[in-house]
Amino acid sequence: MSKNLKIVYITSELAPFSKSGGLADVASSLPRQLVREGCDVDIITPFHRDCLLVPHVRFQKIREHIPISLSEGTCIECSFLKTEIKEGKKRGKLTIYFIDNYRLFRSRKWLYSYDDDACRYFFFSMAALRLIKELNLNPDIIHCNDWETGIIPYLLKRKIKLGYPTLFTLHNLAYQGQGILNERKTPRSLRDDGGSKLPKFCHKEKFRLINFTKRAILHADTINTVSERYAKEIVTPDFGEGLERYLKSRKKDLFGIVNGIDNSVYNPKFDDRIYVNFDESSLNKKVKNKLKLQRELGLKIDANIPLIGLTNRLSEQKGFDLLIKIIDKLMKKSLQIVIAGSGEKSYISFFEKKAGKYSRKLSFITPFLSEIEPKVDSASDLYLLPSRFEPCGISPLISLRYGAIPIVRKVGGLSDTIKEFDPKEKTGNGFTFKKYDSLQLLSAIERALTFYKDKKLWQSLVRRAMQQSFSWEIPARKYVMLYKKVIRQAKARGNQESRIRNYELRLGIRRLGS
Ligand code: GLC
Repeated sequence: MSKNLKIVYITSELAPFSKSGGLADVASSLPRQLVREGCDVDIITPFHRDCLLVPHVRFQKIREHIPISLSEGTCIECSFLKTEIKEGKKRGKLTIYFIDNYRLFRSRKWLYSYDDDACRYFFFSMAALRLIKELNLNPDIIHCNDWETGIIPYLLKRKIKLGYPTLFTLHNLAYQGQGILNERKTPRSLRDDGGSKLPKFCHKEKFRLINFTKRAILHADTINTVSERYAKEIVTPDFGEGLERYLKSRKKDLFGIVNGIDNSVYNPKFDDRIYVNFDESSLNKKVKNKLKLQRELGLKIDANIPLIGLTNRLSEQKGFDLLIKIIDKLMKKSLQIVIAGSGEKSYISFFEKKAGKYSRKLSFITPFLSEIEPKVDSASDLYLLPSRFEPCGISPLISLRYGAIPIVRKVGGLSDTIKEFDPKEKTGNGFTFKKYDSLQLLSAIERALTFYKDKKLWQSLVRRAMQQSFSWEIPARKYVMLYKKVIRQAKARGNQESRIRNYELRLGIRRLGS
């Protein structure tokens, strides 16, 4: 019997233990599917404050007082915790390891947004590598995600040569490790060259200038993004966030794999977070969800008013500026909008004000709680995501499961997953527009509202959309293929390297500088 592929998956957030965005969902659902495909997966993640709030989980402390040496004279201790996930019969094994440090993680209310974030996630990355060594995990590959773990491919190539190949997944290129500053916004003279010696750990300000994402792009064996389209977009100045040149130089090692969702978590037939369960053959029950939500939020109770939902991070990325421009126009139409999200203060105060003004038509829920998402989706007829850019965008994939038809901008992952509805051909699963322009968004909404009036046509669209599957099965197999390719290439490189070394030894030639 062949040995299972062994993956160490390192992530800064992991649902249900910690979550600020889509990465947490991916980190919890992709490894589960990989295990079903016969891989053994060890996840490593920080022990954030809210981990302790997750019910029915037993954390086992496996190591204490492990010193992590961060730079000359700086050493910080941590503990390793572990929990094993047992879910029926699986072909592989899933273990979650937590790095616990009170001062840098467990005492903090948020996952990010502190002025020592760069130091915190450098510490986490060093501790993760220590854990791999200490526990002899011996993976075939290390899979890192986004800037928080972006220093790992660099460390493995330059500093801590454990010999494991790396895959780096870009979930969002806009975040590169320096808070609001990224490559493009950093003055040229202060930019990280991606390879110089790291500053001392105590020099917080200098650490903030390290571009973790750039280091990952330059040093990971292979890179992928979370959709095919985004992989193509990021090598251009419009989407490359200042790193397009480096991404272009690695084009042959850059891939795109569209995210999936966990269909067992997002299933309106069994989901106990929604008011009334339903499936595509009982759409009359879906309407009951709308009536209940309207009542709960103080909206006008009417089954026939089209309800548009939007549950997402309140950030510029998600296209809120377009919505803001047309909100008064929309409020003159026969429709209702429910927005749920946490994020930028300016958006919060804008929508709070508008929800006060149009209280029977517009509802705004903040902060975002994960149970609100299926509630809003199951009540909504339409789902809005007019993103400025979108690496993948899993929320419309979730909304489809609950019969809310997406209206999205044709960008990034959204253009891979959401196709314009064609009533004649009976194809497509949403309404799309191309240019980042509020009038184009308005006309996509108007198109959707026109079709909504034709009840029979609409129901057939909803039924078809709900039957579509964006599960992890196919993407997880693509990841397995990519892992194998990375491992094969690294082996070939290793063999080549040792052959060269042998020749050098035989010929008695030394390496310059060694
Ligand atoms: C980020 C991206 C989003 C993607 C998610 C998971 O949050 O903005 O598009 O779906 O990561 O990969």
